[in-house]
Amino acid sequence: MEGAVHTNWVIAPPPPRARSEIMLVADAFAVDGPLNALAEGRDVVIVSDREVAKHHLSRLETALCLRRRLSIVLPDGERTKTARTAHAVAGRLLREGFGRDVLLIGLGGGMVGDLTGFVASIYLRGVEYALVPTTLLAQVDAALGGKTGVDHPLAKNALGTFFFPTLVVVDAGLLTTLLDRQYRAGLAEVLKYALAFDADFFSWLEDHAVFLVQRRPEDVNEAVTRSIHHKVTVVTQDPYEEDRRALLNLGHTFAHAIETHDGYAHWLHGEAVAVGLDLAAECSRRVGWLGAAERARVSALLEVLGLPTVPPPADPREIRALMARDKKVRAGKLRLILLEALGRAVMTAEYDEQLLGAVLAEAFGVRRTESEV
Ligand SMILES: NC(=O)c1ccc[n+]([C@@H]2O[C@H](COP(=O)([O-])OP(=O)(O)OC[C@H]3O[C@@H](n4cnc5c(N)ncnc54)[C@H](O)[C@@H]3O)[C@@H](O)[C@H]2O)c1
Ligand SMILES: [Zn+2]
Repeated sequence: MEGAVHTNWVIAPPPPRARSEIMLVADAFAVDGPLNALAEGRDVVIVSDREVAKHHLSRLETALCLRRRLSIVLPDGERTKTARTAHAVAGRLLREGFGRDVLLIGLGGGMVGDLTGFVASIYLRGVEYALVPTTLLAQVDAALGGKTGVDHPLAKNALGTFFFPTLVVVDAGLLTTLLDRQYRAGLAEVLKYALAFDADFFSWLEDHAVFLVQRRPEDVNEAVTRSIHHKVTVVTQDPYEEDRRALLNLGHTFAHAIETHDGYAHWLHGEAVAVGLDLAAECSRRVGWLGAAERARVSALLEVLGLPTVPPPADPREIRALMARDKKVRAGKLRLILLEALGRAVMTAEYDEQLLGAVLAEAFGVRRTESEV
C-alpha cells in the first residue's frame, strides 16, 4: 500500500471555537456585562423556551444593544429537542437572512442550550454562540463543555457535535423562578462532582445541605462555583471524552437505564442520577472500596437534598440489559464508574458481574431465584 502513495498532504486545522469563557456574574443582563460586550453592534438571535421567556426574555432583549435582533421562543420540554426543531430554527435564520457573523444566544436550561449549540454548529457550517443557562443543571453541567445535540426517536442526544460556546454567563439569581423539583434535580449533578473529585466539597455539602435546599444565595453560589470548577478542569484535560471526562458519568449508567425504562415520562434526569449515585456508592461498598459508614453518608445526603434513592420497580435484568447500551462498553464489557473513596471516582471493568446483579436485584425490588444469583 505504502508504495502506491505518490505524495501526501496533511491539513491539521485548529478546532473551531477553541476558546470558551465561563463567567459567573451578579446580573446576566447588566448593560455593561460580558454578554453585551460580545453582542454589541452585531446581529443577534436569541433562542429560548416559553417558560423561560415568560420570566427572563424581555430583560435580555432590553439589555442588548444590537444592530438587529430576533427572538425565537420554542415550546418548553425535552420533546422540542429534535432535528425537526433545529431545522425550523435554521429555516427562520435563513429566511431572515442572517449570515455567518450572527451571534446565537441560548437563554434557558439544557434543552435550549443543547439545541442552540447544535444549530450554531451546523448553520452555515458554524456560527458563534453564547449561553445564559437558567436551570441549576445547565449552570453546573449542560452549558459547559461544548456538547451540543438533539434527540432522535431511537436514542436521546443521538445527533450532536462538540462545539463550544464563546461565552457562558452564569447568574445564579436566574434560578429564583425555577421550580423546586427542577432545582433539586440539579443538586444531584452538584453532588456528582463532590463524589467524583472532591471529598472536601462532599463534607461542605453535608454541612450546607439544609441551606442549599432553602436556596440561600451564598450557598447556591458556592455550590455552583465549585461545580463549574470541576467541570472545567475535567473538560480541559479531556475535551472530547477520550478517557477522564467519562468520570462525569458517575451514576449515569444507572440513571440512563432508569430514564429509558421510564420512557422519559416521570423521572427528571437529576432524579435518576440521584438514584444512580446511590447505586454506584452501593457497588463501591460491595467491592470493598467504601466503608459502610461512608456509603451511608451518600444516601443520607441525598435524602437531606430531597432527592430519591429508591428506583422505580423494574425487572433488574431489563435494567442490566439497558445498561449494556452504555457508551462505556468496550469489547462487550460494561465499564462502571465507581468510588475508590468519597471524592475519588475511577472507571473500572474489574467488578464481579454477580455483584452488580445483586445490587440491581435488591434496589429494583425484584428477588432473583437462587440459581440466578
Ligand atoms: N450538553 C451537555 O453536556 C448536557 C449535560 C446534561 C444535560 N444535558 C441536557 O440538558 C437537558 C436537560 O436540561 P434541564 O434540566 O435544564 O431541562 P430543561 O431545559 O428542559 O428545563 C426544565 C424546565 O424548566 C424550565 N425552566 C428553565 N429555566 C427556568 C427558570 N429560570 N425559571 C423557570 N423555569 C425554568 C424550562 O422551561 C423547562 O420547562 C436534557 O436535554 C439533557 O440531555 C446536556
Ligand atoms: Zn447528568
